[in-house]
Amino acid sequence: MRDFIPARRTFLKSVGGAATFALLPAPLLLSGCQQGAAETDADESGLDQGPFDVELTLFARPDVTPILPGAASEVWRYTARLIKGPGDTLTHSDNRYVGPLIRLRRGQRVRIHIENHLPENTTVHWHGLHVPPEVDGQPRFPIQPGATKTVGFVVDDRAGLYWYHPHPHGDDGGRVGFQSYAGLAGPLIIEDDPERELDLPKGDRERVMVLQDRSFAGENELSYLADSMGSMMTRMQGFKGDHLLVNGKPATVEEVQATAYRLRILNGSNARIYKLVWSDGRPVTVIGTGGGLLEAPEERPYVTLAPAQRVDLWVSFEGDRQGTEIQLINEPHRAGEMMGGMMGGSNNMSDTPTSLLTLVVNGTPGKAAPALPDRLSSDLAFLAHPDNSTRIRPFRLSMKMMQGFAINGRQFEGATVADDEVVSLGATEIWEFFNDTMMPHPMHVHGLQFTVISRRNANAGGARQLQAGIVDSGLHDTVLVMPGQRVRIALTFKDFKGLYLYHCHNMEHEDNGMMRYYEVRKP
Ligand code: C2O
Ligand code: CU
Ligand code: CU
Repeated sequence: MRDFIPARRTFLKSVGGAATFALLPAPLLLSGCQQGAAETDADESGLDQGPFDVELTLFARPDVTPILPGAASEVWRYTARLIKGPGDTLTHSDNRYVGPLIRLRRGQRVRIHIENHLPENTTVHWHGLHVPPEVDGQPRFPIQPGATKTVGFVVDDRAGLYWYHPHPHGDDGGRVGFQSYAGLAGPLIIEDDPERELDLPKGDRERVMVLQDRSFAGENELSYLADSMGSMMTRMQGFKGDHLLVNGKPATVEEVQATAYRLRILNGSNARIYKLVWSDGRPVTVIGTGGGLLEAPEERPYVTLAPAQRVDLWVSFEGDRQGTEIQLINEPHRAGEMMGGMMGGSNNMSDTPTSLLTLVVNGTPGKAAPALPDRLSSDLAFLAHPDNSTRIRPFRLSMKMMQGFAINGRQFEGATVADDEVVSLGATEIWEFFNDTMMPHPMHVHGLQFTVISRRNANAGGARQLQAGIVDSGLHDTVLVMPGQRVRIALTFKDFKGLYLYHCHNMEHEDNGMMRYYEVRKP
């Protein structure tokens, strides 16, 4: 698989004056570095002793892929090749820029060779996975253009939908927003026995949906807004595209049987917060979050999904007549758009609801839909619970004039930690995120899954329009903290010592410094 397509020189034209900026940085345009990945810099980290149950190669490379009707778009994307493992480990995404679905099972020993065919440094981060720091894809372990890095780990997380994406950060800022926007992101499913026993919908009745927003210029070239006004705005509110894409394409119409389905949704957008609702007003039935299944299903009028979060939905069309059309809609809301509103300019969608998926019920009588179990999992009760002696660590989210956002007054400084960013291996703590800004911040902690134990000021500011859809039960690696809110999470630092990241997952906030390391030390 050395036959990747070198990027055309015209990757992204600037159209309409200064308002649109080339997606690609200068290096690609000048590139003489588009050779195959050399077998240099091979580096084994984490689990380096076989045997492995799964072994695969993941390629990050420029490509040309259709997105909108008409001309294909230049993208950066992941492709993969299975070397060893079960036949369903990879589901390729031909003709789409979204990375292949990687399906793993809890307990598997996995080895992945990452080949960087991009013209700049990258890393691959396994978002949500409990893996050692060395294989976590942190910016301190960049993979140079042309290099291959090999990582190994044991799959140790609950069954759930996770994902993988780049995490590079150079001297002049992060490249997570740019590289993800260019197309580098893919879904990762972990399966386990307790989940399998539930007999939830699978095969054709299990759908994975990666939600992203993109803007286009000229001949369907992706554009990442970066004029002087735009870059300030982008730094403030993050980049939002004006087309909503599902798995790298505009929304589609699909036929469904009159039975039950499982929709596993990842918000892979840079900054957009989705408000997902069924067009016919039926409640949204949530069965899982980023860290896997809830204890029991929950019904919501709509579901709020912040960048990097995942939600697992169950829906049955059993009672719906033949030909019934039901849409999954993204409802407009203004949370996180104060600046846009205030300053008149906005790169946002119109105020109309947008369909993400249209389902048409084909009433062919099949077997009765399997009932939704009323108990989904029983292991959450065994998590360490904080008590009165648990340490509470405060994190104040604030704005730094013209520089973006800060955590406890600090911005990203590479692999250094302050005294109050050191935690003890094995300890359980409470972290409190207090959002003292006008923007929502989806706060993400690497290396573990946490519980949300309280949310104060639920109806502060813009929160009102999204609060009823925020699912705080279950396990999470990313929690949305609305302006004015104080959210407490409980986390336990198990198994691995060393540095991990915590940051806002609005990718433009993160790239502009709203990110820090914390360190797990042996007490
Ligand atoms: Cu999804 Cu630090 O990342
Ligand atoms: Cu992460
Ligand atoms: Cu933020």
